[in-house]
Amino acid sequence: MIAPVKIVGIGEGLPKQIVTNKMMEQIVETSDEWITQRTGIRQRYILTDDNVVSISVDASKKAIEKAGLSAQDIGLIVASTLASDYRIPSLAGCVQRDLEISDCPAFDVSAGCTGFIYALVTAASLMETLHVDTALVLAGEGVSKNINWSDRSTCVLFGDGAGAIVLKRDSVGTIHYPILMGRSDRENTLTIKNKDDHTPWYQYPQEQNTKLVMKGREVFTFASEVLADTLNRLKEQCGDKPFTKIIPHQANSRIIEYVCRTTGFTHDQFFLNLSQYANTSSASILLALWDAYKQGWLAPGDRLALIGFGSGLTWGGVVVDWTLES
Ligand code: UT7
Repeated sequence: MIAPVKIVGIGEGLPKQIVTNKMMEQIVETSDEWITQRTGIRQRYILTDDNVVSISVDASKKAIEKAGLSAQDIGLIVASTLASDYRIPSLAGCVQRDLEISDCPAFDVSAGCTGFIYALVTAASLMETLHVDTALVLAGEGVSKNINWSDRSTCVLFGDGAGAIVLKRDSVGTIHYPILMGRSDRENTLTIKNKDDHTPWYQYPQEQNTKLVMKGREVFTFASEVLADTLNRLKEQCGDKPFTKIIPHQANSRIIEYVCRTTGFTHDQFFLNLSQYANTSSASILLALWDAYKQGWLAPGDRLALIGFGSGLTWGGVVVDWTLES
């Protein structure tokens, strides 16, 4: 059971540089055709002289404005990121500083591409525990800084971006049936290793790959299984009030096609925008939620499932009764 809260604001923040598949052809041996057919991706946004904090601040500012609130109304900040500009302070702390949000709890969660679902459930739960009325939940990702740009099997897949929502306590709950799951990744299917700097007592090996490494096929199989399983679990929990719309983590359109073939869900129930943004890790559900809202795909009264999956291995989902007017 999750505390009764509702989404009252939403916003997005993007780098200004767009990189098309054609531009990727100049960097590695790939083709627009391969990328489009294998993934559904056509372009991505990549950080240049902007940064994770600045796009996260943009997204958060828009979400707070949309909620009709001011920064001082925020009583809790939970951010998700796998690649912020700093290890400390947290991304949440940087957003708090730059938006001049008053003293309040502010911290990051790390759960790979599932991070937003973890952040949302954490924030909603803490709002009840700490008696906080209004919370900012955001995801800001700069995966491009952790990519090996000569590895065609990964560099074409990811993009940078940020999204944010504002949650407010309410008498009626609109976020239901949280599922948060993790499984040990013994095969290291998706990793980014930190750089080990020498200490006076230990010389770390010189050859260290500190860029994203992914076993694509294994992750594909895992993602398809947990997405289908989570959808079925949420469907069961909803009983006679089913969700009709689905916003999944945006990793590969073929994962959605596979899930449609193996479950009763249909393609038109899924909102996909990864053709425009590629895989923005934990920001992807928020960017999709933003586009779905902005394009009128979502309307008050809709019941939708949000589902994430990714490194960890992690996965999770919630059902949301959408209330935000356009
Ligand atoms: O956000 C976390 C979740 N992540 C995911 O969900 C990612 C899940 N995995 C995937 O989406 C897919 O596995 C990929 C898109 C990563 C790869 O697609 P695939 O159909 O599994 O391709 P593959 O790795 O089996 O590679 C097929 C071929 C290989 O060539 P050969 O050995 O058949 O000659 C690759 O070398 O495609 C080649 N290839 C490329 N060719 C052109 C790999 N990357 C590229 C590329 N351009 N960018």
